[in-house]
Amino acid sequence: MAWKTLDDMDFAGKRALVRVDINVPVEDGNVTDLTRIERIIPTVDDIQEKGGKVILMAHFGRPKGQIVPQMSLEIIAPAVADVLGLPVTWVNSDYGDAVAEMEGDEVLLLENLRFNPGEEKNDEGFAKRLASLGDIYVNDAFSAAHRAHASTEAIAHILPACAGRLMAEELHALEMALGTPVRPVVAVVGGAKVSTKLDLLGNLVGKVDHLVIGGGMANTFLAAQGIDVGKSLCEHDLAETARDILTKADTAGCEIILPRDIVVAREFKAGAANETLAPDACPADAMILDAGPATVAYISDVLERAQTLVWNGPLGAFEIAPFDAATNAAAAKAAALSKAGQLISVAGGGDTVAALNQAGAADDFSYISTAGGAFLEWMEGKNLPGVAALG
Ligand code: 3PG
Repeated sequence: MAWKTLDDMDFAGKRALVRVDINVPVEDGNVTDLTRIERIIPTVDDIQEKGGKVILMAHFGRPKGQIVPQMSLEIIAPAVADVLGLPVTWVNSDYGDAVAEMEGDEVLLLENLRFNPGEEKNDEGFAKRLASLGDIYVNDAFSAAHRAHASTEAIAHILPACAGRLMAEELHALEMALGTPVRPVVAVVGGAKVSTKLDLLGNLVGKVDHLVIGGGMANTFLAAQGIDVGKSLCEHDLAETARDILTKADTAGCEIILPRDIVVAREFKAGAANETLAPDACPADAMILDAGPATVAYISDVLERAQTLVWNGPLGAFEIAPFDAATNAAAAKAAALSKAGQLISVAGGGDTVAALNQAGAADDFSYISTAGGAFLEWMEGKNLPGVAALG
């Protein structure tokens, strides 16, 4: 799909309404991870360099159309100013007056759009009110593009619209990973539950050459093949679905990679006594908490021969050592191959970035998406309304 970028627009003397995703974690009033704010810098700088004024629009949390003081963007505004190195004025209401009074390189940050019920309803009236504040609409919020909201969808049909730098970068990376990838392609999908990733697995088996299934999901697949998984996290009611996915993969020529050895423990806690066993040897009173070294060795071998990797979710209970071992080792391998220019690696969604950061591997991946839910929906092969509206 073709969309315009900042290079296609004339920003001189214009006001750009820039939809960003600065939905960041906050503890005791402090932003604990600045990544999403840092990633909008190129767009803001570029628009200003091209002579435009920047009005930022964003959401924070899920206030559901109500004014919730703890979800005010006033809390985030100082961090945005610090990261951008620019004067940032938070605007609660009276948007129009603030826009008319913008000076120099001042950036406006509108109050949490989701305080207005029109935002999540994709209300045209609210989109028109926002559109009246600017001349050009820029969407730099890939991570909110799975939402058809007034500021991500409706507004794109009212003003001349384009993708910001981050949006363009995300779309380019995703295209490289699953759109028109260099083969062989490997997907690593981990996480607790198959039920949350059914569409994703169903889509991937038709697109990738090797699909590594890890985490609690792998237990469901082992159990579906008649293996006793003891007290492991497992969705026994999805055995039939898991078998369907295995059959679909077989037909499509996609190799499904399940644990070749398992690390089991009797307690779910850091440092719990554990042993490494064959996948069919889980004791009745134990649970599988990680994949073992033979699995990692096999995954490493597959990665050595691959050209492209897309990664979502940890391979084990990565939040408690030593059950982070398989995730750490496989991530380190992917990072090393990427650094050596042998592998294009794209990761995103939910716990993935935290897991890769913990593994010290994130910096060497080719691309780390800022998106959670949007990344998953894209992996499911869904149309993202915020992206479609730019076309
Ligand atoms: C995210 O954090 O993934 C995005 O900001 C989207 O937030 P939402 O799931 O509340 O729409």
